Amino acid sequence: MSDALKNIAIVGANLAGGYAAGALRKQGYDGAITLIGEEPDPPYERPPLSKEMLVHPDVSPKTLFVHPLSFYTEHNITLRLGVRAEALDLSGKAVTLADGSRIAADRIILCTGGHARRLNVPGGDLGNVHVLRNLADSRAIAAHLSPGKNVVVIGGGVIGLEVAASARMRGCEVAVVEAAPRLMSRVVTPEISAFLELAHRAKGCVMHIGVGVQSLHGANGIVRAVETTSGVQLAADLVVVGVGIDPAIELAKGAGINCGNGIVVDEFCRTSVPEVLAAGDVANQPNPYLNRRARLENVQNAQNQGAAAAASLLGAGEPYAELPYFWSDQFEYMLQAAGETVICDQAILRGSVESGAFSVFYLTAGVVTGVLAVSQPKNIAAGRRMVMKHSQPDPAALADESSDLRKLIG
Ligand code: APR
Repeated sequence: MSDALKNIAIVGANLAGGYAAGALRKQGYDGAITLIGEEPDPPYERPPLSKEMLVHPDVSPKTLFVHPLSFYTEHNITLRLGVRAEALDLSGKAVTLADGSRIAADRIILCTGGHARRLNVPGGDLGNVHVLRNLADSRAIAAHLSPGKNVVVIGGGVIGLEVAASARMRGCEVAVVEAAPRLMSRVVTPEISAFLELAHRAKGCVMHIGVGVQSLHGANGIVRAVETTSGVQLAADLVVVGVGIDPAIELAKGAGINCGNGIVVDEFCRTSVPEVLAAGDVANQPNPYLNRRARLENVQNAQNQGAAAAASLLGAGEPYAELPYFWSDQFEYMLQAAGETVICDQAILRGSVESGAFSVFYLTAGVVTGVLAVSQPKNIAAGRRMVMKHSQPDPAALADESSDLRKLIG
């Protein structure tokens, strides 16, 4: 470790930032660590925001905060919360904050995450139109969910479908408007989109797929209806917009750091500037499992990449290799996916879609490159190992539910 390294600033008090801070101490770094966050809360996990916290707003989620507040005191990690980092002053070795203060920084880890996209249509800024990215958003949405309320969800991606399911479980009348021809197209194949569409319809959600939003109409500044591009008016007491995130690259760009879709980093999480690393949703990194650069928007990556950036900063890093993984709970269905779950030569179904519990293995040139399971976590575990081992199982055996998957890992 360099003697000159006395001050590390982490921008983004989120999952990646929280893990990076913890990992710096674990690796033996004993200089100053400042964790800077725009939100008032210390690092927390986002999955409960669209699930438990909406369905059971009066119950504390099982997991939310990454560390108790005492952790930061015990590990001498300074939290600067509720204040935005405005700029990186690389020559002056500091991060400047919106309140005018300067945080000394020999090295910086950028965990700036993403901004929820908003709807750029007339009425998009009416009251009771929310995105869902942070705790305040989740609490505001939860407060509106009650039986009989009309909830329009814009975007049938991960957030949109989870909110739709949660709102329906709270007794709301739910409509989903998805502009693309199918649901969750960023991360699943058409067959899985079709399953999700049927599942949501069966639970009483009204699905408008392949139509966009023309405008939002309100009364007294509060949204009352959503007008689709096909001219349909949907009654709305609450609108939740889940149309994706944009990586928060402004600080990096302002400092002349190379950005594309996110902050471009190498396999050690290093940006184009030697003093700055990046991790989490914002980092665009070569992924050995996908054989391309990727920006992974998921919990596991935020944790592991945050820790990897910390190790790398201290000179103890290894090339980071994360098998992409995400899960989504919608009604009683737990969808889990690992590896490449969109592009493949062959999709092999194991089990029956109609039963609501099945798995799909994705093969390219005979090699398992991805797996998706609905309410079959054991198959995900086996599938992950297949992807990591580049297994080439017999497709017929893979499809046969009586075969032992562990024997097919190879
Ligand atoms: N109208 C309707 N639908 C739209 C529009 C629009 N104007 N613009 C985009 N969409 C749809 C996309 O076609 C896509 O299906 O919104 C969906 C967005 O889905 P995701 O990309 O999965 O983004 P989102 O659901 O917002 O999730 C954002 O939060 O938890 C994480 O894993 C999640 O990282 C992801 C992030």
